[in-house]
Amino acid sequence: MSPIKPPMKNSTAIGVTVLFALVAFAVLVSLPTQKGTHEKNQQTQRLFPLASGKTLFEESCVQCHTLPVFKSHTPDQWRILVKKMNRYMEQTGKSYLSTDEADAVTDYILSNMTTKN
Ligand code: HEC
Repeated sequence: MSPIKPPMKNSTAIGVTVLFALVAFAVLVSLPTQKGTHEKNQQTQRLFPLASGKTLFEESCVQCHTLPVFKSHTPDQWRILVKKMNRYMEQTGKSYLSTDEADAVTDYILSNMTTKN
């Protein structure tokens, strides 16, 4: 029995470090999200409860016109456009989106620009 442990192999050390980083990251990411969602649900009445970006897009954007083609605008244009459209919705008394919901719609559009529509 040797009192001194042999050092970890490099590959083992990297594996352990990566695993630890992943777990720490998962914990960090999940905690604030759960808390934030919980608080938001209590504070504001959501117009489209628990809806995904896709549903929000399909249900809110058809209130005035047909659904736009994703490729028609660049990501930067979409980021501005969705906010502008949401302002139209609010001003004209339609169901409009919270900031988070508008972001979800923008994310949905941007992540589908190359694959669909
Ligand atoms: C309250 C009514 C209303 C709603 C709801 C609405 N829009 Fe619009 N949208 C308009 C009007 C009015 C125009 C034309 C005037 C303009 O472009 O500002 C327009 C134009 C557009 C255009 C063309 C703009 C351009 O510059 O080429 C796009 C793209 C668009 N809307 C996307 C959306 C999306 C995405 C949503 C959902 C997040 C949405 N709209 C929801 C009223 C609306």
